[in-house]
Amino acid sequence: MAALKLQGTRLLLGITGSIAAYKAVGLLRTLMSHGADVSVVMTDSATRFMTPLTFEVLSNHPVATDTFSGHQDMPHLSLPESADVILLAPCTANTIAAYALGLADNLLSTLLLTTQCPVIIAPAMDGDMWEQTQIKQHVQTLRARGVIVLEPEIGELASGKVGRGRLPSEEAIVEAVVEKVHASKELVGRRILISAGPTREPIDAVRFISNGSSGKMGYALARAAQLRGAEVILVSGPTSLEPPFGVECVSIQTAEDMYHALRSRFSTVDVLIMTAAVGDFRPQHCREEKFKKRDWKGEPIQLEQTTDILAALSAQRTHQLLIGFAAETDDLLENGREKLHKKSLDMVVVNQVGGSESAFDNDTNEVILLTRNGSVTPLPRMSKHMVAARILDELQNFPMPSSVLPSPSLSKR
Ligand code: CTP
Repeated sequence: MAALKLQGTRLLLGITGSIAAYKAVGLLRTLMSHGADVSVVMTDSATRFMTPLTFEVLSNHPVATDTFSGHQDMPHLSLPESADVILLAPCTANTIAAYALGLADNLLSTLLLTTQCPVIIAPAMDGDMWEQTQIKQHVQTLRARGVIVLEPEIGELASGKVGRGRLPSEEAIVEAVVEKVHASKELVGRRILISAGPTREPIDAVRFISNGSSGKMGYALARAAQLRGAEVILVSGPTSLEPPFGVECVSIQTAEDMYHALRSRFSTVDVLIMTAAVGDFRPQHCREEKFKKRDWKGEPIQLEQTTDILAALSAQRTHQLLIGFAAETDDLLENGREKLHKKSLDMVVVNQVGGSESAFDNDTNEVILLTRNGSVTPLPRMSKHMVAARILDELQNFPMPSSVLPSPSLSKR
C-alpha cells in the first residue's frame, strides 16, 4: 500500500474493553503513518486493559473517556463532527449490541448516536459469542444501516480455543478505512476555486484595514472538496491556518490581489465558492513609510470601494457554478436573497457575523442555504467541517454543464 493514503483524514478510533485493546497501539501508529490524524475515545472497560496515556502520547490528542469529563464541551457531539470516519477497533459484543439497539450508556455509544459519518467496526470477541444469534442479528442490523462490520479472523482466542473472533488483521482494518475514505469521490474531475479569510487594505507600511475572518470556513470547504476528489485551488488572505493537504494554495493580501488571483483561474474551474470576507473599502492613498502620529493633524482616511469580486466574476461566467456567502448582522434572509439575485448566484450561504455567535473566528456556524431554485435550508449550529459537507451535498443537486462532467474513467470508484 502506498504511503500517506490517509493524509488529511481525521479518524476517531473507538477502543472498547477487549483483550485485543493492546493491538490498537500498533493500529493507531499504522493509521498515523499513512497520514491520518487520529483521536481516541476509550470505554471504561478498555481503560482496564490499556491506559489512556499510551494513546494520548501516541496520537498527540487528549483521549476522551467520559461524557462528563468536561475537557471538551459536549464531547459526544463535538468529537464525531470533526471526524471523517469512525473506527471501532477492537469492538466488543457489548458495544455492537449497544450501537444496534441505540443505547447511550457511555461516551462512545452516545457519540455513535449523534454521528452521520461512516462507521467501521472491527469486532473482537470469543468465537461462541460471535456465533450467537443475537450478535448475528445486531451485525445484520448495523450492516443494513450502512455500517461496515468486518469479519473477525479465525485463530487462537484468549480462551485458548480456536474459532472466529480474533480482531481482523491490521492490514484488513487499514484497507477498509482507506477504501471508505476514498469511496465518496463524487467530485472527481471537478475543479473548484475557493476564496478564504480576510483581506488587508494597507493604510501605510505597517497599518491596514481588515476584519475578523479566520478562514476556517473556506479551509474546511477546501479540505472537504479535496477529500471528495475535486482539484481544489484555495486563494487565501492572511490566516494562521495550515494549508489543507493536496490543495493548491495561493496567498494574497488585498482585495485587488484576490481579484487577480481568482480572475486568472476562473475560466478553468467548474465552481467558485467565495467564503472570503473581502474588504469592501480601501484607503485611497497608502503611504510607503510608517505614518508618524506627530504628523497627524486630524485629517480622516479617505476610502474608496474595492471591486466586488463575486459580482465581477459572475458577469464573466461561462459555465461555472457560483456560491457566495452572505455575512449579515440582521435581516439574514432578506439580505441573503438580495445577494443571491443581485450577484446572479446559484447558492448563498447566509451566516450571522458580529456578536457572541458570530461566524467569524468560530469553529462552528449556523447557516441558511438559499438556492436559485428558491430552496431555503436552515441548518442547526454545527462544526464548520459539517457545514462544508452540507454545502457540497447541496452543490451536487445542481446539474453541471456536460463540458465539465468527469470522464467515465475518473468517475466514482
Ligand atoms: N464579496 C466579493 N467582493 C467584495 C465583497 C464581497 O466577492 N468586495 C463576496 C463575498 O466573498 C461573499 C459575497 O460577496 O461571498 C457577499 O459578501 P458580503 O460581505 O456578505 O456582502 P457585500 O457584497 O460586501 O455587501 P454588504 O457589505 O453590503 O453586506
